[in-house]
Amino acid sequence: MRILVTGGAGFIGSHFVKRLVAAGEDVVVLDKLTYSGNPANLQGCDVELVEGDIGDADAVAAAGADCDAAVNFAAETHVDRSILGAREFIETDVLGTLVLLAWARETGARLVQVSTDEVYGDIEPGSSSSEDDPLRPSSPYSASKAGGDLQVIAAVRTYGVNASITRGSNTYGPNQYPEKILPLFVTNALDGEPLPLYGDGCQVRDWLFVEDHCAGVELVLREGQPGEIYNVGAGEEHENVELTDRILEYTGADRSLIRHVEDRAGHDRRYSLDTTRLRGLGWKPATKWEDGVRTTVEWYRDNRDWWKPIKRSGGYREYYERQYAERLR
Ligand code: NAD
Ligand code: DAU
Repeated sequence: MRILVTGGAGFIGSHFVKRLVAAGEDVVVLDKLTYSGNPANLQGCDVELVEGDIGDADAVAAAGADCDAAVNFAAETHVDRSILGAREFIETDVLGTLVLLAWARETGARLVQVSTDEVYGDIEPGSSSSEDDPLRPSSPYSASKAGGDLQVIAAVRTYGVNASITRGSNTYGPNQYPEKILPLFVTNALDGEPLPLYGDGCQVRDWLFVEDHCAGVELVLREGQPGEIYNVGAGEEHENVELTDRILEYTGADRSLIRHVEDRAGHDRRYSLDTTRLRGLGWKPATKWEDGVRTTVEWYRDNRDWWKPIKRSGGYREYYERQYAERLR
């Protein structure tokens, strides 16, 4: 099979590309190489990388020529950045998805849209979101992802596009851009910098190791039903304070680095997924949270040449200043 992977130079996409190439698939990557897209993530991987925007129909047609399927990881992905400004989120996560759907309709290719548990909004203790629950996004990011999902659902119904959606939970592992909590806190801890914990730090996320997420997406690509949505979550629900404690333990950094800072606006309290449908296809997570977090901390400790240039870059420092300077003062 020839497979187009959009956003394949980012965190999860690059792990997915390496997985497909290892399985003997013919893969082409289309990636805009935004701040979080990094060719180094695909180093040593025998894959064609095309720089381009999923919102550009010509770029999609050229990169997607002769492809039987596409998996769309391309997105603006960080909630805090979406709170600072949502335009790029709508352009890529909604309009970019629309362009991919038009391409899939035109060519008859299968499309897997990689989405997120955040589209359900937060959920009370004791319950979990299932695929048919209403969408109640809280942030400009999750609202944009929900907009993309709705376009996929409409294209399946109206035009018979062969598409499925995955909704993954908080994913972690090597190669994640150091803006999300885990790589931010690990690299700050390794540098002796403060760990800015939002609010009381008791928000709960369901932590999914990146290889388990990719295994779920691959299964949906190969065996998922057109028009169906599949939740992907490990059931590893942990508060941010607990994650922070693990990071301090595995990096050997001091507790005094923790700073409780002003909360994120509209901050979702808890996510939780019912994954019965995907498990019915034979998927189950292989990585325990403690093992995955330890492996990830070790990767950042051993790969400073991957993240140091990012953290030193002007773009990163500008964002960090805007997001944290006032909070940490
Ligand atoms: P990431 O930010 O690391 O990577 C996104 C990639 O998309 C980058 O390589 C970027 O250059 C590329 N991109 C952005 N805009 C583009 C455009 N217009 N055209 C082409 N490429 C573009 O993100 P990630 O964490 O790897 O997330 C990948 C997907 O998985 C996203 O759709 C995200 O919503 C979803 N997801 C992420 C998580 C998570 O915890 N990280 C969990 C569930 C779902
Ligand atoms: O749930 C899936 C989603 O997980 C994905 O769709 C998103 O792309 C991904 O960014 C992630 O979203 P979150 O907002 O949950 O991830 P983030 O790492 O930004 O935050 C995780 C938790 O940590 C959240 O409760 C906010 C908190 N946090 C985050 C940062 C960056 C802090 O306390 N301090 C911080 O500096």
